[in-house]
Amino acid sequence: MGAAIIVGGFWGDEGKGKIVAHVAYTDRPKIIARGGVGPNAGHTVEVNGQKYGIRMVPSGFVYKDARLLIGAGVLVDPSVFLREVELLKVADRVGVDYRCAIIEPKHIEADRGDKHLKENIGTTGTGCGPANADRIYRIAKQAKDIDVLKPYLTDVALEVNEAVERGEFVLLEGSQGFGLSLYYGTYPYVTSKDTTASAIASDVGLGPTRVDDVIVVFKCFPTRVGGGPFPTEMPQEEAEKLGIVEYGTVTGRRRRIGYWDSKMARYSAMLNGATQVAITGVDKLDRECYGVREWEKLTPKARKFIEQVEQDTKTPVTLISTGPELKQIIDLRKEKL
Ligand code: GTP
Ligand code: IMP
Ligand code: MG
Repeated sequence: MGAAIIVGGFWGDEGKGKIVAHVAYTDRPKIIARGGVGPNAGHTVEVNGQKYGIRMVPSGFVYKDARLLIGAGVLVDPSVFLREVELLKVADRVGVDYRCAIIEPKHIEADRGDKHLKENIGTTGTGCGPANADRIYRIAKQAKDIDVLKPYLTDVALEVNEAVERGEFVLLEGSQGFGLSLYYGTYPYVTSKDTTASAIASDVGLGPTRVDDVIVVFKCFPTRVGGGPFPTEMPQEEAEKLGIVEYGTVTGRRRRIGYWDSKMARYSAMLNGATQVAITGVDKLDRECYGVREWEKLTPKARKFIEQVEQDTKTPVTLISTGPELKQIIDLRKEKL
């Protein structure tokens, strides 16, 4: 019991959405709270053949007994939020911190119309950078100023801390990934905030001493969308040959794909303070692993790879995802969170 944080170890899109959903089903948190930048994220969750691509509501929404909260550090686009609340039918259990800063249409226009952001950085065009700039300039609107958000307003930090004090389990989900951190990523080809586990705790207002576990999610073949350095990037033709081509959830852009990066994995696990590692896309490393749900049934190639990940990150690999569907996972944890 206590709190656990799930964050991305590479450049986002590691499959955090799926890992959060799995942990939610198995560990039954009372609250699932989102940190991270804002609706630039696109989490994918596939359950019983239904595929959801979500940007604002926590990806743990599939677990129906949890309260779903958006922390004060997160930017809220009211129209994206309201659309998802209606689509996912979560109006009775979702809350937004009254201090969240708001993305307005002018921020989206600025993001898409700015040559530097659009062409050099290759942002998602969701208005996050310009909205965070207004927040730092201290002119951004907050959730409490927006009429349509009134029914959802709450003090997320208070709710989360009180739940932890009662001994309940709280799950915090990050978005983006380590390489996109404004501080530790490949600046200037980064997002508009820090994305490490410490930032996620701060986003929801939970102090570092209250966090028990940090699960860093890595994918077998790292990906990146937009510009910026990518040391282990492979040629597009190679990705096609391997059959591992991917497209973005939010922008539909083709993701650049690379080979496993030991050096980055080590650094990322270290700065995130990883206590556990989740690895996704093992089916892409070896097709025979598709849908496998037991360690013993993984191929020697996959097992060897996972051992290497443990050595690189100096952290136990506890969750191994073998396909996009929720049930396609090996859970090696002896104790739940
Ligand atoms: P951001 O918050 O935007 O960084 O996203 P995310 O980490 O939640 O990941 P996203 O859903 O954008 O991308 C991951 C993609 O991989 C999705 O299409 C998932 O359905 C898929 N996926 C997740 N786990 C696996 C896996 O083990 N195998 C395969 N083949 N696909 C997976
Ligand atoms: P922004 O966050 O929209 O300003 O985009 C800045 C950089 O971060 C660009 O390279 C984007 O492609 C990348 N980025 C932002 N959010 C995500 C995400 O959720 N997944 C992957 N890349 C992202
Ligand atoms: Mg994504």
